[in-house]
Amino acid sequence: MCGIVGISANRPIVQHLIAGLSALEYRGYDSAGVALVGKDGIARLRAKGKVRDLVALQAETGLDGHCGIAHTRWATHGVPSEINAHPHVSGQVSLVHNGIIENHAALRAELLAEGYEFSSQTDTEVVAHLVERAQRRGLGLREAVQDTVARLHGAYAIAVVSAREPGTVVGARYGAPLIAGLGEGEQYLASDVHALLPLTRRFMYLEEGDVAEVTVGAIRVFDASGAEVSREVKESHFNADAVERGEYAHYMLKEIHEQPVAVADTLEGRIAGGKILTQIFGVDAERLLADTQAVHIIACGTSYHAGLVARYWIEQLAGVPCTAEIASEYRYRDPVVKEGTLFLTISQSGETADTLAALKLAKDRPYLARMAVCNVPESSIVRESSLVLMTRAGPEIGVASTKAFTTQLVALALFSLELARAKGLDAARYADGVRQLEQLPGLIAETLKLDAEILELATHFADKQHALFLGRGTHWPVAMEGALKLKEISYIHAEAYAAGELKHGPLALVDEEMPVIAVAPNDRLIDKLKSNLEEVRARGGVLYAFVDETVAHGLDAAHVVILPAAGEIAAPVVSTIPLQLLSYHVAVLRGTDVDQPRNLAKSVTVE
Ligand code: G6P
Repeated sequence: MCGIVGISANRPIVQHLIAGLSALEYRGYDSAGVALVGKDGIARLRAKGKVRDLVALQAETGLDGHCGIAHTRWATHGVPSEINAHPHVSGQVSLVHNGIIENHAALRAELLAEGYEFSSQTDTEVVAHLVERAQRRGLGLREAVQDTVARLHGAYAIAVVSAREPGTVVGARYGAPLIAGLGEGEQYLASDVHALLPLTRRFMYLEEGDVAEVTVGAIRVFDASGAEVSREVKESHFNADAVERGEYAHYMLKEIHEQPVAVADTLEGRIAGGKILTQIFGVDAERLLADTQAVHIIACGTSYHAGLVARYWIEQLAGVPCTAEIASEYRYRDPVVKEGTLFLTISQSGETADTLAALKLAKDRPYLARMAVCNVPESSIVRESSLVLMTRAGPEIGVASTKAFTTQLVALALFSLELARAKGLDAARYADGVRQLEQLPGLIAETLKLDAEILELATHFADKQHALFLGRGTHWPVAMEGALKLKEISYIHAEAYAAGELKHGPLALVDEEMPVIAVAPNDRLIDKLKSNLEEVRARGGVLYAFVDETVAHGLDAAHVVILPAAGEIAAPVVSTIPLQLLSYHVAVLRGTDVDQPRNLAKSVTVE
């Protein structure tokens, strides 16, 4: 979604502002802009489309300066266009904004009545006018921002400059991330550390309601009450190389191939002597696991699919009732929370607006504890949770999630097995589950060797309009994830069904134009799934089966891809890999923007 960069320096910085935007491109956006402030006022450039369009504009105009703000916009209010692109300007003030101002209509009416004119359809422009009005009434820039944010309802991270105070960038956050970066003789603001990694590794993570005043020499932070506060300076562990594409054609391909390492990293230090270390779930984990009588899993998108797989594991292995639910639904219903229920969010970014809102609601409900499985240590979801199990996928840049998903499955498997142990799981089954996890990096590496075979299969899909994915048990959510990947990046309409539902509707769609992809490892439902596949074959459907060797024998499918044999814990992870590769190759063949598919965002920080 939207990205923010702000810099105050003693040297020309437009290249750094734009480089910061390029580093945020992965989040998904549809326009970009930059504003520089100097004694002569504000100069800005905005372009619909890509950051490269902004680069071209900058090269044409030669615009530069020592202090400025920049933005990538993902449209919410108002179409993607130059006019709606940020930064917005009001008199001497220029501003960029991530999030949604919910009371923008009332504020707009108020400002219109006072004679302010609006040039965009955005909710953001009101904020620029409010800061301008406050400054005109005599407030300094920081005070004007503090005065303004008190009027805002909704979620925001903003960065503001003013020609009345060239050299200062003021940022504020509530419900959307904003960080301050500390440099030598220059200071920064950004919505994501990736934007600033080439400039600094030292960051302050602003808290809800904070306002930060950034000048060449210092960053001052004020909390929601207006009191000056100090926020801890943290060294980022991210390696700038981790966000390089290297030899790979796309980030997504790189991230698919990083999975053996990402999974190994997620397991690192969490198993010893064939046992999962209980303290990885928190100091009080032993008691907590014993007290857990039910689990509510809440997530969005791919993370939700990981939750659906975990639901099977938690019920099968631990015998504990578990639900997995989409956050945007959970937050607007009245769930019944029985005593001893653990609330578990799953999120790659830790900033997804619906998941975060659900987590905040859960605080007022009688949950046993709030646990997060997350990939970003400093994220809002991590900070709002009492227990955290980090995935260690490293930065995921491709909008379509790959290594984040498989590492989530690994973290959730650790949790499921440990909960099951606390509930008396048979020792042999526990040991087998742990062994399967330990073998996973090798199994994934072996599965990745199927790449050439899958590339060949992808040619069958490139001209298709639809595809149907089937699975049973834990492989139903794996099929859902496969369908999601295909639609996200190739724009082929894809649906996933639990194979048992086939004859309750989707079978009507099956003909030679509808490829049917079955994920069917050798589990206890295999015979039932084989019957479902026969139903497809009997209707002339073209069947692609991803199975292990034992199942392949005697399977009447047009195309069979043999996966390494894997047990109940490892199999959903292994089966995911070929589906990622298939989507990737189909998208490349169709010539889509693989890493930044149209209309999508990496981290959905608005509702
Ligand atoms: C967006 C991304 C998805 C992701 C979902 C949830 O839709 O494009 O890849 O699965 O958000 O994000 P989270 O960061 O909470 O896992």
